[in-house]
Amino acid sequence: MLTLGIETSCDETAVSVVRDGREILSNAVSSSVHLHREFGGIVPEIASRCHVEFIGYVLKKALREAAVKDTDIDLIAVTQGPGLVGALLVGISFAKALSLAWDVPFVGVNHIQAHIYATIMGLTPKFPFIGLVVSGGHTNIFLVRDFDRLRLLGHTRDDAVGEAFDKVAKMLKLGYPGGPVIEKLARKGNVKNITFSRANLGNNLDFSFSGLKTAVLYYMKKNPKAKVADVAVSFQETAVDMLIEKVLLASGNNRLKRIVVGGGVSRNERLKDKLKKEAAQRGIKVFFPAAALCLDNAAMIAGLGYRLSKKGINSDLTLTAVPNLTVGRKDDQ
Ligand code: KG4
Ligand code: ZN
Repeated sequence: MLTLGIETSCDETAVSVVRDGREILSNAVSSSVHLHREFGGIVPEIASRCHVEFIGYVLKKALREAAVKDTDIDLIAVTQGPGLVGALLVGISFAKALSLAWDVPFVGVNHIQAHIYATIMGLTPKFPFIGLVVSGGHTNIFLVRDFDRLRLLGHTRDDAVGEAFDKVAKMLKLGYPGGPVIEKLARKGNVKNITFSRANLGNNLDFSFSGLKTAVLYYMKKNPKAKVADVAVSFQETAVDMLIEKVLLASGNNRLKRIVVGGGVSRNERLKDKLKKEAAQRGIKVFFPAAALCLDNAAMIAGLGYRLSKKGINSDLTLTAVPNLTVGRKDDQ
């Protein structure tokens, strides 16, 4: 069964063809990130306009690379939220138009759930496990019982971790997006030169990254001649440690020996190495996504859409964008 995935929640216009929810035949992405750079963050209207302009081409590319015809597609999956409302509406309208034109069903997918699915889509997943979603918009810990059964255990009370990387990079005049540049620069810094204090939220599983961001700001004001690489490595180390502490606590509390990480920040090698090492000492196995599936992509949307449809979940033409779509807030999920 072939699923066409469509993802337009932020600045990536992405279309993918996936067979049976796990075999990626194509994963086409066109990003407008270069147009947002001068603003130091995503400009929603520019993102929406780019989606409208490029989505038709990205569709053609995805079908061509998968070597399939439009008549071969059995299901369309589209991101319903969370994300930028104008950006989401482009993908949803496009999905509805294709569904009507091709006469195939379509299903709305939660972007956060899909980031976790991205990591397990090639595997035979063993539920339950602890899910950690770390991206530009989200920092969440879940108890994952099935593809669509997640219980939120903790979340950020202010900035997402990727957002903190982006804001600190802006402060240090390193450009956008901040994650990759900070990671690269951090390799040249000495972590022992600066210590940033960490937010102490006690024994719960919530995060707070805005204090760390402010600590970097004050440090730079006080020490304008500080080596930027030292600031980058100490910031990164602190952010990574905060994630590791809470996700290990979550797996300990729930006696689960598997952690699945997803989202843009899962690209970070320091996070990957340190979490894997610390988890291994506790007998915990950690899974990270393939490089092409860390950042926003439509393969994860197609894959999860297929799983939902197998459970009898489909959407109708009233589906609309939900910019603050949540997941797993109820205890019974
Ligand atoms: O998942 P994603 O593409 O978009 C959202 O759903 O938000 O994640 C983008 C975020 C950005 O904040 C970016 O700075 C961060 O992921 N990121 C990284 C790295 N690569 C991307 N953060 C830390 N280290 C990286 N190597
Ligand atoms: Zn994302």
